[in-house]
Amino acid sequence: MQNRIEELKRSFVTSLGAAGSAESLEALRVEYLGKKGYVAELMKGLKDASDKKAAGQLINEFKTEVEDSIAKATEELRAAQIAAKIRGAKKYNPTLRAEAEFGSYHPITLATREVEEIFVSMGFTIENYFEIVDDYKCFEALNIPKHHPARDMQDTYYLDNGQLLKTHTSAAQNAIMKKYGAPLRAIFPGRCFRNESTDACHENTFFQMEGMMIDENISISNLIYFMKTMLSEVFKRDVKVRLRPGFFPFVEPGFELDINCEICGGEGCPSCKNSGWLELCPCGMIHPNVLREGGIDTEKYTGFAFGLGLTRLAMMKYGVKDIRDFNSGNLKALSQFKSI
Ligand code: DAH
Repeated sequence: MQNRIEELKRSFVTSLGAAGSAESLEALRVEYLGKKGYVAELMKGLKDASDKKAAGQLINEFKTEVEDSIAKATEELRAAQIAAKIRGAKKYNPTLRAEAEFGSYHPITLATREVEEIFVSMGFTIENYFEIVDDYKCFEALNIPKHHPARDMQDTYYLDNGQLLKTHTSAAQNAIMKKYGAPLRAIFPGRCFRNESTDACHENTFFQMEGMMIDENISISNLIYFMKTMLSEVFKRDVKVRLRPGFFPFVEPGFELDINCEICGGEGCPSCKNSGWLELCPCGMIHPNVLREGGIDTEKYTGFAFGLGLTRLAMMKYGVKDIRDFNSGNLKALSQFKSI
């Protein structure tokens, strides 16, 4: 029995080394683990073995080894196929000739839809919200009273009637809490505005996607789980992220979730201000003041919120080096995305 197992082990290793496709791995699985496979044959021979217990153990070990090796090889093959797909994918190049005969979706629309789909599959609803809001929604309801220094970072465009162009999608949090109450799972993508000087990574008009999950016993681990799942789905592989403490008056504790810069691979470039990291998704546990202001019972419920930089995400996903390309209306740049 032992000799036969040793012999099978050797032939398995040789065959595994030669199996270069999902089909050949499946064939190998059937050959060894199938109903009429070698392991089944060994089990049949067990009744004639002198030490049945030891022989049974050997067979089991062999079976596990075959199962694990095939699972590992299948996973490696899948990873190699994805890597090859990424290497071969058509890359964005703003100097190519425009293909303007047919319309195409804007890259931000493509990225928005993709992220929406992922969150919908996790039970989130999608909400629409205004671009013009009042001071209360954009700041005060978010624990940012008048004259709070956090307002300095978010200068925007004011209308004569005192309303303003929203500086962040967080401006919808209060209205959505009041509309649905708890428990609640919602995402709300939207256009945001800031009075900023523009460069390769800053624009006065950009997109974010806010998300909120409010329920009993929501903790930071729920937040981290949702963020990681979403990012690995968007990039179709494990992405490098780091979590740092960050201050936002409407969350406590608050975090900055950074993603490894996909444009330079982390070496440093103008898109990531030479740091190798890009702030992609600030997030945190919703401050009790904000929950109360939205009419949520803070004795019973907690929740997390995040503000995903959709424009930044699209830059990373499609390798767009200059954020200004998105709003340029330049068909040379924009018409390429239908085929990416
Ligand atoms: N609204 C913030 C901004 O644009 C980003 C943000 C931070 C949103 C933390 C959140 C959050 O929901 O929890 O600067």
